[in-house]
Amino acid sequence: MIEKKVNYVTWSDKYSVGIKLLDDQHKGLLNFVNDLFNHATGNADEEHAYFQGVIQQAKQYIADHFVTEEECMLATNFWGYVEHKMAHDKFKFAVVKSVNEFNAGKILSLSNFADFLKDWISSHVDIMDKQYGLYFKKIAAIKKDGQLNNVLAEIISRREKISG
Ligand SMILES: [Fe+2]
Ligand SMILES: [Fe+2]
Repeated sequence: MIEKKVNYVTWSDKYSVGIKLLDDQHKGLLNFVNDLFNHATGNADEEHAYFQGVIQQAKQYIADHFVTEEECMLATNFWGYVEHKMAHDKFKFAVVKSVNEFNAGKILSLSNFADFLKDWISSHVDIMDKQYGLYFKKIAAIKKDGQLNNVLAEIISRREKISG
């Protein structure tokens, strides 16, 4: 029974990339990390059951988010696309590795896993993701009033339908 709800990592406007869907996806990731942290009871059986119940959905959520960002970057010829895609792939690989180890019977510490995700949010979302946000504004793919140009608007509307 989880009684204490702690906000382990808090959304702040400094994370905003200027596109609502991407900000909402980042908020979803933060919520997942907080939920995970709040289930880090230190009881291996409890942590195991929780992780097993949420990880597939979380993996899908992360994959959907990465595709959304990558499509926006590719369509606007973002200069940092290759490096950014590599960072996504490296992160996905690290998550898959942890899940595979978990499935093979290794005990996974939820608090360690939450730390790993939190570090990733502060290093990736707060730095690399903001780079494309600034670029989209610079090339007016995000206009001064916050509206998206046709290329980004089409991608975001299609991805919104996919992510529900
Ligand atoms: Fe992101
Ligand atoms: Fe990213």
